Amino acid sequence: MDNVAEEAWESREEGEELQKSEIFRIPSGIPGLDDMIEGGFPFPSVVLVAGSAGTGKTTFSLQFLFAGAENGEQGLFFTTLSEPTHWMLQYSSNFSFVKKEYFGNLVRYVDMGSMLNRPVDEILSYINEKIAETMPQRIVIDPVTIIGNIVRDNYRKFLFDLTNSLKSWQAVTLLTGEVKPGEMYPVEVSYAADSVILLSLKAEGNARRKYLEVLKMRGTDHRTGAYPVSITREDGFVVLRARF
Ligand SMILES: Nc1ncnc2c1ncn2[C@@H]1O[C@H](COP(=O)(O)OP(=O)(O)O)[C@@H](O)[C@H]1O
Ligand SMILES: [Mg+2]
Repeated sequence: MDNVAEEAWESREEGEELQKSEIFRIPSGIPGLDDMIEGGFPFPSVVLVAGSAGTGKTTFSLQFLFAGAENGEQGLFFTTLSEPTHWMLQYSSNFSFVKKEYFGNLVRYVDMGSMLNRPVDEILSYINEKIAETMPQRIVIDPVTIIGNIVRDNYRKFLFDLTNSLKSWQAVTLLTGEVKPGEMYPVEVSYAADSVILLSLKAEGNARRKYLEVLKMRGTDHRTGAYPVSITREDGFVVLRARF
C-alpha cells in the first residue's frame, strides 16, 4: 500500500464500508453503450473490439476518438493497413461526428503499414514513440490482427508487451481485431486485453443486422447478450436499447 492509500485506510470511519468501485471511467462516445458498462471504459485499459469485415470496428473506433476530442482529449489512430490519410478522411468524412478541424491536432493519424516488416521490438518502440509525442488519452490500433499475420512466432509475446506498455500510458486503447471465418474473436488478443467487445452481422431474411456484445470487461458488472446496433451518417454507431 502506498502512503495515500494507507492514510485513507486508517482515517476511514469505524464500520465504514470499503468503497466498492473506485474505477475511473471515460465515456465511450457510443450512444447506448455506457449504460451497459457502468458508465464507460475503465481508464486506463485496453479494449479489444472484434468483428468480421463490415461490422463497424473502424466506425466505432473513430467515434471513440472524436467523442474524446469534443472533450479536449487527445486521440491517436494507428492504422496497420497502409491507407493514405486522404482515403480515410474521404470515407469517414460523411459521418456527422467526424469534425475535420480535429484532424491533425486532437485526432492524429499514424500510418504504420511500412513498419510492419520490421522486428517486433522496433514496432513496439515506434508505437511508444508516437504516443510519447502527443500523450493521448485515447488510442486506436486498427486492425491489430494484421500484425499477427506478419509476425506469427512472436505474436503472443508482442501482444503482452504491447498491452502492458499501453496500460502504462494514461490512456484507453481500442485494439480492433478482424475475425476469421469459423472463429468467434481473435483469442490471442483477447488474453492480453482487459475487455472484449464483439461486433457481429447476422442474416435475417434478406437483411443483415449488426449486433454488439460485451464479452468481458475487467472490474465491470456489464450487461450480457447481443444488442442490435445501427450505423448511419447522421448518428454514427448507436447501440439500440431493445434486445432481440
Ligand atoms: N461513411 C459512411 N457513412 C455511412 N455508413 C457507413 C460509412 N462507412 C461505413 N458505414 C457503415 O458501417 C459499416 C461498417 O463499416 P466499418 O466501420 O468500416 O467496418 P469494419 O471496420 O468492421 O470493417 C459499413 O458496412 C456501412 O454499413
Ligand atoms: Mg475497418
